[in-house]
Amino acid sequence: MTDRLWFDPTEILVGGVWHRTAETLEVEDPSTGEVFAAIARGGTGEIDQAVDAAEAALAGDWGAMPAFERGRVLARLGKLVEEQIEQLAWLEARDVGKPLKQARADAVALARYLEYYAGAADKITGETIPFQNGYTVYTLREPHGVTGHIIPWNYPMQILGRSVGAALAMGNACILKPAEEACLTALAFARLAADAGLPAGALNVVTGLGGEAGAALASHPRVHHISFTGSVGVGSLIQQAAGKNIVPVTLELGGKSPQLVFEDADLDAALPLLVRPGVQNAGQTCSAASRILVQRGIFDQVVEGMAAQYRDLRVGPALDDLEVGPLISARQKSIVDGFLAQAPSGSIIATGRIDDAAAAGGHYVAPTLIAGIDRDHTLARDEIFGPVQVVLPFEDEDDAIRLANGTDYGLVASVWTQDGGRQMRLAKRLRAGQVFLNDYGAAGGVELPFGGVGKSGHGREKGFEALYGFSTLKTVAAKHG
Ligand code: NAI
Ligand code: MG
Repeated sequence: MTDRLWFDPTEILVGGVWHRTAETLEVEDPSTGEVFAAIARGGTGEIDQAVDAAEAALAGDWGAMPAFERGRVLARLGKLVEEQIEQLAWLEARDVGKPLKQARADAVALARYLEYYAGAADKITGETIPFQNGYTVYTLREPHGVTGHIIPWNYPMQILGRSVGAALAMGNACILKPAEEACLTALAFARLAADAGLPAGALNVVTGLGGEAGAALASHPRVHHISFTGSVGVGSLIQQAAGKNIVPVTLELGGKSPQLVFEDADLDAALPLLVRPGVQNAGQTCSAASRILVQRGIFDQVVEGMAAQYRDLRVGPALDDLEVGPLISARQKSIVDGFLAQAPSGSIIATGRIDDAAAAGGHYVAPTLIAGIDRDHTLARDEIFGPVQVVLPFEDEDDAIRLANGTDYGLVASVWTQDGGRQMRLAKRLRAGQVFLNDYGAAGGVELPFGGVGKSGHGREKGFEALYGFSTLKTVAAKHG
């Protein structure tokens, strides 16, 4: 563990060289509200330079590197991340306010993504296609070219790992724009890239504001693919910007993910997993289980079982490593407080406890369990992105599906039941990109394709599927008689 920054975060990485920018932005510790560092404020000029550097890498050493060598570079990078797990976890805890155990899990996941995509780099193949006599037809999987990666602040290391890991494995040259609230681990990661043997320009990191560096990257005419994780509003802007250039996008935009609990569920197994994925990372999780839908006959029992867990949840500074840390910012806290202010009287069933040691300047919200509200209430339909879960009753399978599928989102869902037929029926009927049966989240699931339907976005990340998204297919038809 360390107690200070070991590199200069006011530098960005372009073409293998670390640069300063004219202006900087403040870095706040969400646990205290104190400013403890600064980052570079990149903009249009820096993004232009990064695109030039990425093109040069594709035309040079990076573009010429065989797939198995790309895999070796990623494997070495994964090992270097593994060696720095404690430092990276400390950095993330300070920068983002994550309890240390969560920050450590994120660093482990980053290493695991690199390991996974290292192994996959030389295993993506094309196919031969039976065609008319006198032809041989085959397909080639090729990189898009320059790829833009705009990532959020909630799981910086995991999301950069899944996004940049897969894109590099396929041979793209990446430009990473981390969220302005959470750049430090991306910069620390990029400092390892040269040591791992990644050629200059294959990975460029430009920090800055979303409306400046982010918008410049999303609208750049020489960027060939954009992957974005964040809000629906900005996702729509990204898709419009990419649309002007006819460029594909992957959008992962969060959700209002339900867990369905039937009367025949194994409640001992279910109860801890009903609460944990709702309050993990202070509820700032795209796949947060924010709606718990419970069959009428066991409704009171489930609410009480969840409430007991809520009363034990302690909230405090990231480095104290309690169950829940602060939210990322004063702005995010005001969004969540605004939702909670709309809770009808009597609907707050239980809350967690903010520790006495939590500083007044930190952005703390007590985890809050809500029940007894209308299905159409904003708390039951809209993404809150804080440690808040809503419990709603349903009558039968049809009613459960109506309720589960009744929001604009569709990212993750789970079903708790011991009836095998019901498991299969509901897995088909749920509108979501991932469905878990008697589980939730599978601890992140590096290997499991992930993404949404509806306002949760489109495109798939993680697993092998991501490699198809980060490549384009060429069909070669040879007429030889
Ligand atoms: P955001 O969507 O503004 O930020 C995500 C990323 O987009 C950041 O890197 C940001 O710099 C960039 N960005 C912002 N404006 C941009 C623009 N015009 N062009 C290009 N890039 C731009 O999310 P924000 O404001 O931090 O959070 C607001 C809400 O968004 C949250 O309350 C939550 O509901 C949702 N959210 C969802 C996430 C998810 O995992 N799906 C992650 C973060 C936020
Ligand atoms: Mg910060």
